[in-house]
Amino acid sequence: MILVTGGAGFIGSNFILDWLAQSAEPVLNLDKLTYAGNPANLASVQDDPRYRFAHGDICDRGLLERLLAGQRPRALLNFAAESHVDRSLHGADDFVRTNVVGTFSLLEEARAYWQALPAPERERFRFLHVSTDEVYGSLGPDDPAFTETTAYAPNSPYAASKAASDHLVRACHHSYGLPTLTTNCSNNYGAYQFPEKLIPLTILNALEGRPLPVYGDGRNVRDWLHVADHCRALREVLERGRPGEVYNVGGRSELPNIEVVRAICALLDELRPRTGGPHAALITFVKDRPGHDRRYAIDCGKIERELGWRARESFDSGLARTVRWYLEHPEWVRAVQTGEYQQWIAANYAQRGAELGANS
Ligand SMILES: NC(=O)c1ccc[n+]([C@@H]2O[C@H](COP(=O)([O-])OP(=O)(O)OC[C@H]3O[C@@H](n4cnc5c(N)ncnc54)[C@H](O)[C@@H]3O)[C@@H](O)[C@H]2O)c1
Repeated sequence: MILVTGGAGFIGSNFILDWLAQSAEPVLNLDKLTYAGNPANLASVQDDPRYRFAHGDICDRGLLERLLAGQRPRALLNFAAESHVDRSLHGADDFVRTNVVGTFSLLEEARAYWQALPAPERERFRFLHVSTDEVYGSLGPDDPAFTETTAYAPNSPYAASKAASDHLVRACHHSYGLPTLTTNCSNNYGAYQFPEKLIPLTILNALEGRPLPVYGDGRNVRDWLHVADHCRALREVLERGRPGEVYNVGGRSELPNIEVVRAICALLDELRPRTGGPHAALITFVKDRPGHDRRYAIDCGKIERELGWRARESFDSGLARTVRWYLEHPEWVRAVQTGEYQQWIAANYAQRGAELGANS
């Protein structure tokens, strides 16, 4: 079986759904269920005997030790993180705690577990750390894209905390030989993304006729990757990646934010025409956020060459799929917007603390 942390978040839940659709191997999901963790993302596998859930914190070393000893995973994939740049600008304590201390705790407990494994299992074990392209800093318009050897230059507290976690992973491999794998991925989009991020925020505001905020001049460039392509890349890296290596993952799909917002407006004009005129009329430029990185672009040549992975979804097809998903899941959207899922979490977990429940 595999242990996934942060599996109730956007990418983690997509990964678990994909995994269970393609493999017979059980998954244990360890998640603290912060505001970004939503058990409703995994409702369709809740009764699947291959899915288990543990409510807990990756900083809790005792819990990690018990889960590893009791479940004996052959791999650990770390998605758990505080992930929103804007939130990190308002207060980075949780970012340092979860992204840095949490990753360190996972590494320490995974190392103790791995060292005690019998030789064949020790050989097979993998620690896959899911990271971001934001650790590399910002590019000028004509700079070459980030490669795995680009020097780290994180600019936000979020990026700095992820960079620190990447360094700890690297050091754990170098110093102790833990078979680690690190992926640095560009901006993801797709189903189940919390509506604080650009694409779902734009879709949902547009549907409600609210302003569509765009930072600065809207010319900040991101390299977009559909979450399904990211999940497939993670499976490839897990099974065939070389221990100790880093793999950049990107969609070769660079776009300025304003074009992303306009593309969403155009799709909604077709699918849900607005009585007051085109959705693009709602676009509102707002004061830029401090230190806003100008451009990210990923050179994903290494994973393409070594593992034969390549993004399958174009930005146009992936965006159309994503907009349709949000239109077809009003209940999920309502529960997230009203915070209803958090009341459910409080009612279900507050009294019970950290525990492992098959299918719970
Ligand atoms: N979203 C992107 O575009 C993107 C791009 C590249 C890399 N990443 C990385 O991928 C990973 C997943 O991102 P996401 O967008 O799914 O994030 P997310 O914010 O949607 O989900 C994070 C999950 O981690 C859980 N979590 C937070 N703190 C925890 C703790 N202390 N212990 C246990 N669980 C905890 C949350 O409850 C949530 O379920 C992150 O490490 C992020 O840095 C994200």
